[in-house]
Parts: sequence; C-alpha cells; structure tokens
Amino acid sequence: MKELSRHTGKLTDSVIRRMTRLAIEYDAVNLSQGFPDFDPPEFIMDRLAEIATKGPHQYTPTWGSLAYREALCKKLTHWMGIPLNPNENILATVGSTEAMMAALMAVTNPGDKLVLFSPYFENYAAQAEFNSVEPIFVPLNPPAFTFDGAALEDAFKDPKTKAMLLCNPSNPSGRVFTKEELQFIADLAIKYDVIILTDEVYEHIIFEPNRHTYIAALPGMWERTICCSSLSKTYSITGWRLGYIAANKELLDQCKKVHDFLTVCAPSPLQEAVIPGLLAPDSYYKELQDHYTHMKDIFTNGLKDIGFTFTEPQGTYFMMVDISAFSKGKSDLEFCEELCKKVGVAAVPGSSFFKEDVNHLARFHFSKKDETLYEALNRLADIRKKL
Ligand SMILES: Cc1ncc(COP(=O)(O)O)c(C=O)c1O
Repeated sequence: MKELSRHTGKLTDSVIRRMTRLAIEYDAVNLSQGFPDFDPPEFIMDRLAEIATKGPHQYTPTWGSLAYREALCKKLTHWMGIPLNPNENILATVGSTEAMMAALMAVTNPGDKLVLFSPYFENYAAQAEFNSVEPIFVPLNPPAFTFDGAALEDAFKDPKTKAMLLCNPSNPSGRVFTKEELQFIADLAIKYDVIILTDEVYEHIIFEPNRHTYIAALPGMWERTICCSSLSKTYSITGWRLGYIAANKELLDQCKKVHDFLTVCAPSPLQEAVIPGLLAPDSYYKELQDHYTHMKDIFTNGLKDIGFTFTEPQGTYFMMVDISAFSKGKSDLEFCEELCKKVGVAAVPGSSFFKEDVNHLARFHFSKKDETLYEALNRLADIRKKL
C-alpha cells in the first residue's frame, strides 16, 4: 500500500480521551475529559422538545440559520462591545473545534508558523500539523502560568510567524489573561503583522475578581482577530457541537469558504433550540458563574484538606494539581493510570499539555454535580493508603 497521510502518522490518539476510556474500564470518577454531568438549562431543553416535532431538520444556510446568527450577534455585541452584522461577521460552526480548524485553514499556508502558549489544549498541535504549520511554543511558567514578554516577542519576530492561537481563559492552566497582558500581545500582533485566532470557549466561566477581556475589542485588533468560541460550555451542551467564528468581513469570508466544504452547516435543530440561551439575560451568566464558583470551591477546598497543592484557577473548569507529594518518583502518566485503577479517580497527566519537560502536574476538572465531586474527594482522601 502507498504511504498514508504523514500528518496522521505523526499523531497519537488523544491522551484526554484515552483517560476517559480508562475511567470507564475501572469505574473511576472521570475528572479527566471536561464535560458536565448535569443537564443543560431547562428552558433550552424545553425548546429542544418543541423543535423535535416542529423542525427544522434539514440543512440550514451554510453560514448558520439567520435566527441563530441574529441571536448570536445580539449576545456578542453586548458582551464584546463590538457592533456585529449577522450577514457579515458571524459563521455558525460545528463547535469551536471546527471554528479553529477553519480559521487556521483560512489564514495559513504550509510552512507558516503559529505561536502557541505551552501548556496548551491538545487539539492545537494536531490542527497545526494537519495544516503543515509549525508551532512556536512560548512557555506559560507554572505555578503562576505567566509568560516572559521577550520570549513572546521573539516568537512574533520570526518572519514566518503568521498567527497566534490564544486560548483565554486558558485550558489547562486556568489562567485568565489580564487586560495588560492582552494589550502586550495585541501590540506585538500589530507591530509584527500577526493574526490572532482566539479560543474563548470559557469566556463565561471566570472566577472573581478576574474579568474576561476580548482581545478583539482592543484598539486596532478587530482588523486582525478571528474569534472562535463555543456554546458547549456556556450552555452545558458539549454534545450539541455548536460554535461560531466572529470576525471582520474580509477574514470571515475566507473562513466561510473552508466551512462550506468541511461541514456544510452546524446541526439545524440544535441551532434553533439554543436561541433562548443566546438571548438569555445577564442573570443567566451570573448564575453560571456562581454555580462554577461553587463547584470550584468544593473541589479546591477538598483537595487542600487532603494535602494537595495547586494553582487556584482564575477561569475555566480545569486546574493543574501538583502530584509530586504522592507520585513517589513515578511519571505523571504512571501516576494518573494508578490513580484511575487504584483510587478510582481519572485525571490527565500534565505532560500531555506541555512542550517543556514538566512531569509533576495532573489536570483535574470540576464541572460535576456536588455528589460527584464529593465522591471523587472521598476516594482521593485514601490516596496515601492506595498508591
Ligand atoms: C480550550 C478548549 N477549546 C475548545 C474545546 C472544544 O470546544 P467545542 O466543544 O466547541 O468543539 C475545548 C473542549 O474541551 C476546550 O477545552
């Protein structure tokens, strides 16, 4: 047989989803792959029930149904502070995963370079590989996950650097970049003519006193930012596969071409069903934030009582936990496998997110019902006996 794709040949399966399979095999509490074990809001589920009988069930226009784009425009204009036009600035995608792939395909050529912070969400390196784009990793240094400005500038300076993919709030570190940090990145983007692709899927999962700043809203940045985001996390519907790109017309028109041939359209009944969510008042987002703060507090207080140390997450539903007091010289992968098999809790080895040689962290997520979190903490309380 002739050689198959060199891109796929270089990739392994996702470590995150591998840990989920292990969690199922060992009946562990799965705090590895991030998704809620609670239902979406009732008002969205009620709308879904209506749509099941009324439709739509066929393709929407490829850019998304007009009602979805209009509702999204209203929401984004409100939260981002940028007036958007549903026909020019919004593209409905199959999750943020497709949004980022479409954006990368739209702006890069083989041989271009893409700036990424490390640790990073594992999709990015794979998506860069599929586009023959070379990542330049700039460390976000634990435990505070801050970056060195000079190192970032070096990456932007490279004449082959076309874009930076910026995850904010950041999975897996839980960092929410300050306005000053984002202004620094924006200044570099303008100075070196680099496009910013954002991944802002956790834009509404932010813990006080942190604030989410949309880099696209900083002066001069709407011209060079492609905003990718998702409804997966904001409305607890990770399986619905709904996301979007928001960008200026020139950039979005390129993304539209990719999307048209990649997926045709996002699921039509689900675009329709989520509209009440997109039109929800600010109180919905405050309740979401309160709920996530509650889950974070249960989990972080429990971990502290057991003796774990960690960086307090500023946003997202992930956190990096220091495992060195418990791993007894094992690699983080061995530790996570044993944690799953012997303690009954699944986490993701930190090294799977880092380019650097970091081996003392594991990523846990806390988007779970109280009872699930307490069950995980009960099991973790026995870690010294069981490992
Ligand atoms: C940082 C980040 N980006 C993107 C995604 C995927 O989002 P979607 O479900 O919209 O494809 C995830 C899911 O875990 C994520 O953590």
